[in-house]
Amino acid sequence: MTERNTTRAGMAWQKAVEAEHAQSDRIREELVSDDFWRPVAHRFVPPKRGESAPDNTAEKLAELVSQDETVLDVGAGGGRLTIPLAETCAHVTAVEPSEAMREQLIATTEAWGIKNVSILATTWEEAQVEPHDLVVCAHVVYTVTAIEQFIRQLNEHARKAVALISFERPATATYLSLWPSVHGEERIQLPTLPQIEDLLTDLSINFERINLGEWLPRPFRDREQALAECQARLFVASGSDKSEKLSEVLDDSLVEVEGGLRLKWAEPHRPVIISWTV
Ligand SMILES: C[S@@+](CC[C@H](N)C(=O)[O-])C[C@H]1O[C@@H](n2cnc3c(N)ncnc32)[C@H](O)[C@@H]1O
Repeated sequence: MTERNTTRAGMAWQKAVEAEHAQSDRIREELVSDDFWRPVAHRFVPPKRGESAPDNTAEKLAELVSQDETVLDVGAGGGRLTIPLAETCAHVTAVEPSEAMREQLIATTEAWGIKNVSILATTWEEAQVEPHDLVVCAHVVYTVTAIEQFIRQLNEHARKAVALISFERPATATYLSLWPSVHGEERIQLPTLPQIEDLLTDLSINFERINLGEWLPRPFRDREQALAECQARLFVASGSDKSEKLSEVLDDSLVEVEGGLRLKWAEPHRPVIISWTV
């Protein structure tokens, strides 16, 4: 059973996440993949060694940790931040429950020749791990129901500081406009930055806010990839009636840009680091 949140902001958070999850469960046509992240896991890797990242998140996080310190990256994904951080500190422990994400993370660790990363294949709620100097948690909390316990656990595992990274608008905002045409209803939105700030205030955590540079996610490589990613994001099964409808909507919604295709209304992400010392 999900542990209840007790603060005003925590209860509001839980209500929002449960409403979003209930809508997902009602809408989901079938399990498109046994791992939700599989169709999009390739987006959560760092650039190739020597190439610069589209955003400065890793660079700013590196300023919060020194060479002899350790980092715990909770919900590490494909290592977008894990790998560059490993280059600037003593060791990074990546907690990552998705197999598809871990496969990306392992492949990138090998490609970069990185030796100081260890991976825990589990959720944060289930993780058994020692405290680290800096705890990083980037774009993970949006879907967490028992958010207060999740944050407390981040705190308990930090010797020095916690850094939460969130977008100003929901990470999935780009896909929201597709919902009414495909599902006939608006998408219920998850909590994001304002709700994180409310929650930390209710938990009496004094945080600092570091605004990061805005960045546009990589375009879809081609139409096939666009359809696969949009199907996954909208819980639409390949070959279904809704998939046909989605495909028609994409005909009018994708525009050609350098490197591939983009939804024409896509806006840059505006990420923020919310950090506090413990
Ligand atoms: C949007 S991705 C972000 C990945 C990475 N932190 C980044 O910024 O590129 C969210 C990640 O959080 C992981 N995740 C979701 N719920 C989690 C939980 N309860 N505990 C740990 N990781 C979780 C997912 O598997 C996914 O890899």
